[in-house]
Amino acid sequence: MPQRSGSITLPVMGLVLGALTPALADGRDPPTPITQRTIRELAAPVDLRFGTAVDINALANDATYRDTLSRQFSSVTAENVMKWDTLEPQQGAFNYAPADQLIAFASANRMAVRGHVLVWHNQIPSWVNEQAFTPDQLRTILRDHIMETARHFKGKLYQWDVLNEALNEDGTLRDTIWLRNLGEGYIADVFRWAHMADRNVKLFYNDFNLEFFGPKSDAAFAIVKGLVAQGVPIDGVGFQGHLGAQFGFDTRVQENMQRFADLGLEISVTEADVRMPLPTDVFKLQAQSQGYHSLLEPCLLTRACGSFTVWGYSDKYSWVPGVFTGQGAADLFDENFQPKPALAAVQHDLALAAKSRH
Ligand code: G3I
Repeated sequence: MPQRSGSITLPVMGLVLGALTPALADGRDPPTPITQRTIRELAAPVDLRFGTAVDINALANDATYRDTLSRQFSSVTAENVMKWDTLEPQQGAFNYAPADQLIAFASANRMAVRGHVLVWHNQIPSWVNEQAFTPDQLRTILRDHIMETARHFKGKLYQWDVLNEALNEDGTLRDTIWLRNLGEGYIADVFRWAHMADRNVKLFYNDFNLEFFGPKSDAAFAIVKGLVAQGVPIDGVGFQGHLGAQFGFDTRVQENMQRFADLGLEISVTEADVRMPLPTDVFKLQAQSQGYHSLLEPCLLTRACGSFTVWGYSDKYSWVPGVFTGQGAADLFDENFQPKPALAAVQHDLALAAKSRH
């Protein structure tokens, strides 16, 4: 696990930024300004994998998308192509090609790959959802899917989201095909099956709205604590981090991360983005910067937080407008791949964290 120096208090953003790019009196060239350095370059000294979700069609068809991706990021997550409906659209007919293409791109560009996702209630193929399987049959189908998929990607991934979004906002278990048919015990089973298929990849529980204290975060904490106590092979918790500039941001994220870390688990921010009501303006973009900062700073202050992934990096390909009508502009780069203020906030957080180690 990447290790980072102990707790530090970072100065308020903006107050110290000038000090990071001083003019040199001795005639040497001044260092490259922070905002001209790439995220992956800035994240390396703090042992943080900085990733993004990747849209496979953009990867195939948009050279600017590809170039920015490989320059800026050190980790990738498949936005859709490692999900079950893509991998096995018909029973027994597998479609690994898009995911394998992403892995090849990552490998060619020295990027790590996060696996997303083995068990979810969304993007399940219709042959699973629409047939009247018995609970025993569904159990076998799910186990086979997990083991087949984890074996295919064995050795290629550093983390797997084994179980995604199993909780409601009130902390109860989400009513899914898996809970209904397999009972609560499915949660421990899916981690055991993934571990049987690949003993090296780190296995994660991943959910949204875990960032702040509340019934959902408390329930996730109780579940993973129970799994750890039973010796179930779980290695980490993914804080998705889908935020909105209009909602304000939590200030106890680090404390919340730390209680999970104290169970011996790794932490990752897995799907960060900060949407806003459109159109954008300077004020909302400033709030968005604070939103990214509200996730990145706690991660940088938590030793167990070793990766930070944004859920798409350019507004050109964001999932947000299709789901939240009237909202968008959630990413670090705009639709023309121009950096937004939030990118500078990320760059400065990383630079300050690196500086604090020395
Ligand atoms: O593949 C079909 C294509 O054949 C069809 O022509 C097209 C028409 O709309 O749809 C395509 O599927 C879409 C798929 O993305 C691939 O582009 C689905 O309609 C669309 O619903 C799906 O959305 C994805 C969503 O998960 C599904 O729930 C988003 O791209 C993806 O960003 C989003 O990601 C999730 C994470 O996995 C889990 N956490 C929340 C996050 C945001 O919702």
